Amino acid sequence: MDQKLHNLKTQAWAQINSADSVAELEQLRINYLGRNGELNKIAEDLKNLDSNQKALVGRIFNDTKNALENLILEKIQEIRGEEKKGWFDPTVPGIEPILGNLHLVTQAIEEISGIFQKIGFVRVRYPEVEWDWFAFEALNMPKDHPARDEWETFFVDHPEDKKYGKMVLTPHTSSGQPREMQRVKVPPIRMINIAKCYRRQSDNTHVPMFHQFEGLVIDKGINITHLKGTIDFFAKQFYGEKAVSRIRPFHFMFTEPSFEVDFSCVHCDGKGCRFCKSGWHEVGGAGMVHPNVLKAGGIDPTEYSGFAFGWGVERAQLLKPGIEIDDLRTLYSTDLRHLRQF
Ligand code: DAH
Repeated sequence: MDQKLHNLKTQAWAQINSADSVAELEQLRINYLGRNGELNKIAEDLKNLDSNQKALVGRIFNDTKNALENLILEKIQEIRGEEKKGWFDPTVPGIEPILGNLHLVTQAIEEISGIFQKIGFVRVRYPEVEWDWFAFEALNMPKDHPARDEWETFFVDHPEDKKYGKMVLTPHTSSGQPREMQRVKVPPIRMINIAKCYRRQSDNTHVPMFHQFEGLVIDKGINITHLKGTIDFFAKQFYGEKAVSRIRPFHFMFTEPSFEVDFSCVHCDGKGCRFCKSGWHEVGGAGMVHPNVLKAGGIDPTEYSGFAFGWGVERAQLLKPGIEIDDLRTLYSTDLRHLRQF
């Protein structure tokens, strides 16, 4: 009889487990556990056993009954729970995980570093919170000089240093020049400093926090042809083989002579179009390092000479074809619909 019970239990167990609706389970409960169900039919035979056996088989009988009842209850709860969650269609395509991508400016920084590293420049980083001395004075811009106004500087509320003056948010990467000279002490220097810069400005072509990259080369016998060659190399690597650069006389306090640097427009190869009008885009400044700057960095201007250049990462990147951004501020708006395009 206990064999019969065992068989019944195995069969009921399998049927209950494969049931997939509450109605089916109710029917199974009636078939096995109901008044006229299979279990009760077996119970009839209990009567014919002697008292010892009755006790033993009786226990097995009750265990089987309880186990099946519990299983049916569990299954019903499980199915009700799923019904509550709603119908699940396993053929519906899943939710794709969001794929991140590098910010346009990060991409540009990586590309720019790579280009200059090819010709032996070393990428360096200097403080974002800087002293006035490195940002201006060492760059031949004495205190209260009107030229400083152009840099629309943020000042940090911090006691002034006797030697280095006020604390500022670095307004340009040129502050890396005297820092690099002091670090290296004895040239040659081939530095590329790419960093965040801050100025009090905000319109569709300016943001208060932006990025610049600054090149500095100092050695014996460095002249303007080295500067022009380096800038041309960059133009071709960054904008394509057809790109050319030109330098125009300009004035900066920290270079003499100084130039503004233009790149030929990549949309029209310098012929002139709606983007450039003239065929050229102005990108930044450059020049031969002023002797006073070399002196401030502890380098003898009678022995060494050097060139420097610096311009905006955002601006350089925005001149590439396929990147049309009317308002620079959207780059830092954290709107993913905008940022995912690049
Ligand atoms: N620091 C200048 C600026 O922020 C750009 C610049 C001009 C950098 C001439 C240079 C340079 O290294 O030689 O406008």
